[in-house]
Amino acid sequence: MKRSLGCGEINKENLGKKINLVGWVNTRRDHGGLIFVDLRDRSGIMQIVFNPEKVKEAHELAHSLRSEFVIGVTGTVVERTPETVNQNMPTGRYELQVDELEIMNKAKGLPFMLDEAENVDEELRLKYRYLDLRRSEVLAKFKLRNDITFAMREFLHKNGFYEIETPILTKSSMEGAREFLVPSRMHEGKFYGLPQSPQIYKQLLMAGGIEKYFQIARCFRDEDLRADRQPEFTQLDMEMSFINEKDIQTIIEELFVFMFKKVLGKDLKAPFKHMSYDQAFAEYGCDKPDVRFDLKIHDYTDLFKDSELSFLNAVISKGGQVGGICVKPHESLSRSALNKWVDVATKFGAKGLLWIRFKEDGAIESPVSKFLPIDFFDRVKKIYPELALGDTLFLVAGRYADAWPILGRLRLEFAKEFGLIDKNQFNLLWVDNFPMFEFDPQEKRWFAMHHPFTSLQPGWQDVTDTGQIRARAYDLVCNGIELGGGSIRIHQREMQEKVFELLGIDKETTDKVFGFLLEAQELGFPPHGGIALGLDRLIMLLSNSNSIRDVIAFPKTSRGYDALMEAPNAIDNEKLREYGLLKKPIAKK
Ligand code: AMO
Repeated sequence: MKRSLGCGEINKENLGKKINLVGWVNTRRDHGGLIFVDLRDRSGIMQIVFNPEKVKEAHELAHSLRSEFVIGVTGTVVERTPETVNQNMPTGRYELQVDELEIMNKAKGLPFMLDEAENVDEELRLKYRYLDLRRSEVLAKFKLRNDITFAMREFLHKNGFYEIETPILTKSSMEGAREFLVPSRMHEGKFYGLPQSPQIYKQLLMAGGIEKYFQIARCFRDEDLRADRQPEFTQLDMEMSFINEKDIQTIIEELFVFMFKKVLGKDLKAPFKHMSYDQAFAEYGCDKPDVRFDLKIHDYTDLFKDSELSFLNAVISKGGQVGGICVKPHESLSRSALNKWVDVATKFGAKGLLWIRFKEDGAIESPVSKFLPIDFFDRVKKIYPELALGDTLFLVAGRYADAWPILGRLRLEFAKEFGLIDKNQFNLLWVDNFPMFEFDPQEKRWFAMHHPFTSLQPGWQDVTDTGQIRARAYDLVCNGIELGGGSIRIHQREMQEKVFELLGIDKETTDKVFGFLLEAQELGFPPHGGIALGLDRLIMLLSNSNSIRDVIAFPKTSRGYDALMEAPNAIDNEKLREYGLLKKPIAKK
């Protein structure tokens, strides 16, 4: 049976016409003699009716229809009677009077009803992801994903970018994350690495004179999973030659304006705001601030120097700081709730959370109230001018690098609890001026904050403290989520060697692992830079989803497991031997 049009596409033009529809039985209802079926396909739902007085054979067959049977029908589009019109359905004014019914395939009892999919265990839902995908709200996310990637391609082609694929079977790129390894049968005992991103290849494309590249690229990272992390994910990956930071940021802003207009019909404001990494950390305790609400962190260390609070004195004398967030009065911030926040802070790693409430009558309520000076309110107000009676100040003391991220997490929890987040905002922000290196006290060595191919800011030769060297890197942040990251790259060997040296990678290793890149940098490598946007995260934000799993057709579960294919799985010894992963048994003499 050939379909005339989609179930959701029927309108008054079709009235009186004989048409064919195909799809899945969404629901079936027997009303006396009449049988009503909601027929569903990708475009929507249409009510079809089997009338025993008009079509005996089809009506009899319709008795056997069950949810998710695949059928085709021929019939005439008629108007529903006024009292049966369904205003909530785009096709709710019409129904199809069926003449013929063809059952293309049956469906046995389903593991879960589609309209209950949200409530079933995630592993079960993903095991039957193809059933889950049939739901209109899930399909809508993939329509959005399709429209966004199509708009990206259209915009980038118009702007002179070439779409180029780079290898999946490659070599460790040393970008920072753990990687997946693939054994090779032909090179016994050796492994390919799956790319964490196409970083080095896209740089080499610039060395190859491509000038403007993009790819909707699959990336692989063997990291711990979270709501916005999957072991394989997709980036819109871009690189350009002969450009600076502003050129890249401008093209990204134009791309966003284009996508928003074309796909969502919305006007997005550009240019986006900028914030330095230092400001983001000082005020928001992280490098991806959610600026949809205020609740900024302030430094209250000065108020507690020489105070009688010995535990704070101890922290301060060791070079630590006291950071705080001031919360406006809120009904859910009762006295008992204050202790709950102490538990939350402790869970985040704080040694404690000190709260100080400025009561409406001017009194101060706090476990340490008797140690506070009489003019404490005025002193706080000097640091936080919006302070008013009724507010509660929450303080965390510790090393700046430890205490501020805890305050940053508390800030997000406060905002959630007190309903301060406007979910309709799409607040894009550039975070820039990052340090190039961060020190890992456990491993006792420096790591690149972005990756080792990021260019250093001018004047780096004069900076003696490695932690003070700045990178020509920028992140694109949206509503507290890191949506993208990029940088101007190193194109000259001297700087690249210096970065490897500061990272503590010895010359023998750099020559072995990155010899090809260092050599390319001596063979006419143009200045270049780029960015990669997390496509899954972008679609998650645009579709108001809770997790990137919702916008990936076949995601891994939160345990990194493919519940549908049951992967990863064990491999038998025979195969392990073939790949050189199990030594051959020694032949008996
Ligand atoms: P970065 O590592 O910052 O940069 O990645 C770019 C963007 O990819 C997304 N992303 C992820 N999405 C889902 N699951 C993950 N596990 C995951 N990891 C990262 C984020 C992130 O901002 N080669 C550089 C880019 C460049 O310098 O051009 C890179 O990959 O949205």
